[in-house]
Amino acid sequence: MIKLSEVNKSYGKKPVLMDVNLEIPKGEFVMLRGRSGSGKSTLLNIIGGIEPATSGEVSIEGKNVNNLKAKERVDFYRHKVGFIFQGFYLQPQLSVMENIGLMGTFAGMKRSEREVRARELAKQLGIEEVLDSKPAEISGGQAERACAARALFMHPEIILADEPTNNLDPENAQNVIEMLKQIWQDTGATVIVASHDPMVEKYATKVVKVSEGRVTDEAKAK
Ligand SMILES: Nc1ncnc2c1ncn2[C@@H]1O[C@H](COP(=O)(O)OP(=O)(O)O)[C@@H](O)[C@H]1O
Ligand SMILES: [Mg+2]
Repeated sequence: MIKLSEVNKSYGKKPVLMDVNLEIPKGEFVMLRGRSGSGKSTLLNIIGGIEPATSGEVSIEGKNVNNLKAKERVDFYRHKVGFIFQGFYLQPQLSVMENIGLMGTFAGMKRSEREVRARELAKQLGIEEVLDSKPAEISGGQAERACAARALFMHPEIILADEPTNNLDPENAQNVIEMLKQIWQDTGATVIVASHDPMVEKYATKVVKVSEGRVTDEAKAK
């Protein structure tokens, strides 16, 4: 369970999230739905530990993450959360293999161990043949898969994706959502997708509406 209580976030004097109360049960496929500028990325970043809330409480599986010390914080999130960034950004100077294993590098994993895990994920996602390539040499679809593999590397229980279908044509957008659904089913992770794409809504088990920094839980009609 991810629980936000009375969370506020401001940039300088500008309030961006206001009195957010939100509960996300484990194992859901959640869509954070809202227009551009509504606060979706900020919310995702707060859940994923990338940015602190200005006030309020964030707890993940009963652990209050506000009070974590720097090292605890890094360890906690590294194993808990996998991020799929907007635009499927890969490090251009690293091979696909090295990109997938990046979190392992940060965690001090040995190269041989990283390669075993990267190969396993590449096999699952069908990108084994491009492991030695650089990001510029692979297709868009392969880059999306490499980003998903990188997010999955540390066996996260929570996968966060920021606008994963942005700038994709409908067919590729659907492929990306299908991939996320497959990952969700295979891993049992909680998946949270920030998006304004109606297609994402069809896949979500829970929709959270974000509007001008306020959040409302929507019942999902099935
Ligand atoms: N680092 C920042 N500094 C100042 N304002 C920001 C920053 N990040 C986001 N904002 C502002 O916060 C609001 C919400 O942004 P964001 O969370 O990116 O929305 P969304 O992802 O829904 O498009 C916007 O008005 C944006 O301009
Ligand atoms: Mg955004």
